[in-house]
Amino acid sequence: MTVTIEPIPFFESNYAWLMIDEKSKNAVIVDPGDAKPILQFLKERQISLKAILITHFHSDHINGITELKNIFECKVYAPLKEADKIPDIDQTVHEGDIISLEGIGDVQVIETPGHTLGSICYYISDLKLIFTGDTLFSLGCGRLFEGTPAQMFNSLNKIAALPEDINVYCGHEYTVDNGRFALSVFPNYQPLRNRLENVKQLREQRLPTLPVLLSEEKRTNPFLLAKNITEFTDFRRGKDHFV
Ligand SMILES: [Fe+2]
Repeated sequence: MTVTIEPIPFFESNYAWLMIDEKSKNAVIVDPGDAKPILQFLKERQISLKAILITHFHSDHINGITELKNIFECKVYAPLKEADKIPDIDQTVHEGDIISLEGIGDVQVIETPGHTLGSICYYISDLKLIFTGDTLFSLGCGRLFEGTPAQMFNSLNKIAALPEDINVYCGHEYTVDNGRFALSVFPNYQPLRNRLENVKQLREQRLPTLPVLLSEEKRTNPFLLAKNITEFTDFRRGKDHFV
């Protein structure tokens, strides 16, 4: 089984993640907020789309679904709790569900409310990775549009409890901005300084800062370093007002 994972950047900061089974040239896309760059990539590489995984209902994660479904015979998986806000769903999923994707492996659904109430993550132990949508970002976490700080704190802890050697793929390229805020919280923390330097260099070369190892996030992401809900709430509030 050889699976490659490609970032498809769109809008200002979004990534849709394409998992390609290199043997069959079939693929699965996570959070297609815009169909155009995905269609272009699939056409160039002569890959066909078999499934779409949705982490939450925000338009920059779902707006490409209908166009992709019109072209490919692909199955759309989306969170049960947001089913009324997402078009063209074939199968709703919730905590503990396993989706078996041919050529890719078993995908485990983890409910992670906070950014939205129905947000989910997709964990694939065979590939040692997790798609975290707008829940866990590199060096940050999603804004609390719907959930409480306690909900997000618990959601992040669920992710943090997974094996540390998995790669985190999130929905936005926010790492440098997140890192600037993180450094304001832990100004003298050398691992964080090193990390910020590293991601800045990647961005100067226009390279993605993702994926990132969960172990690295646990070492440097302030929202995973928060000791309790109170501290987490302070950090989240601080980030909301950070310029
Ligand atoms: Fe979002």
